[in-house]
Amino acid sequence: MDDEYMNQLPIVLQRVLQDKKEEVISVEDVIRSSWAMIAKGMQFVDSKLNMPGEYVKEMGTFLKKLIDKSYASKTGLASIVDMAKMGVMLKDTSLNPTGHILTHNKNVAFYAESICASEKIKTAYYVTEKISNRIKLAALLHDIGKIGIPDYILNKPDMLNLSEWNIMEQHPLYSETILNLMSQAFNVDMELLIMEVGSHHERCDGKGYPKKIAEQNIPLGGKIIAVADCFAGLTEKRVYKEPKTPQQAIEIMRADEGHFDEYMLQQAITPLLKAYEKLRKNIA
Ligand SMILES: [Fe+2]
Repeated sequence: MDDEYMNQLPIVLQRVLQDKKEEVISVEDVIRSSWAMIAKGMQFVDSKLNMPGEYVKEMGTFLKKLIDKSYASKTGLASIVDMAKMGVMLKDTSLNPTGHILTHNKNVAFYAESICASEKIKTAYYVTEKISNRIKLAALLHDIGKIGIPDYILNKPDMLNLSEWNIMEQHPLYSETILNLMSQAFNVDMELLIMEVGSHHERCDGKGYPKKIAEQNIPLGGKIIAVADCFAGLTEKRVYKEPKTPQQAIEIMRADEGHFDEYMLQQAITPLLKAYEKLRKNIA
């Protein structure tokens, strides 16, 4: 692996792979990197809860079993999804023991699936079942790159300053990098999914990030995940804010001119409101 390639990797993966100079990234490397991230998160929780070793021991055993099980019984895409979920679980745990990232990702996937199921969306954007399934999966994995963003930035209760924001804006690229690594390691073609994941913070007016692409250059999945992600983020509670009502969330999104595909947002309103009620009932 040459240095130029190493420089493109998230810091956490660079650390894991820094001793390795082989050209090929093996399945074991990917598992080891997930494991290292999990261990790092457990240590953080231990230090916060002031019970050295206990949480690491208990959760470590649990997660080791999960890794063994997923590695032994699944191959290809299923393994990638399992490992990505574990990576997200780690970051969730490193933020706080009842973190929000995993729930948020599941919510975004549910909202994206609901948008794809709308007859008008299906007709207007040629969404087949295969495309819908891929977009749902991309929605579930869209923020996997946040495992490369330091906890102090993800967990900051105040506004991010410019340098912190510059780091935060890299997370879609980290998502692409991690999923590219996994697709190579498991020999699975995920090109379209990775493009959709990488474009979930782009805007139709070209003022999004990280690539500042606009309109037709943003893949359909990226546009759908953007709507689902924004609605989920607004209606969920965070350490720094109370949740908006779904109606307030829609109003905020409609007022944000140039961000979303206008027709898509209009057609997404009913599916989003229905999906919100279903999720609320499931929690209650
Ligand atoms: Fe994101």
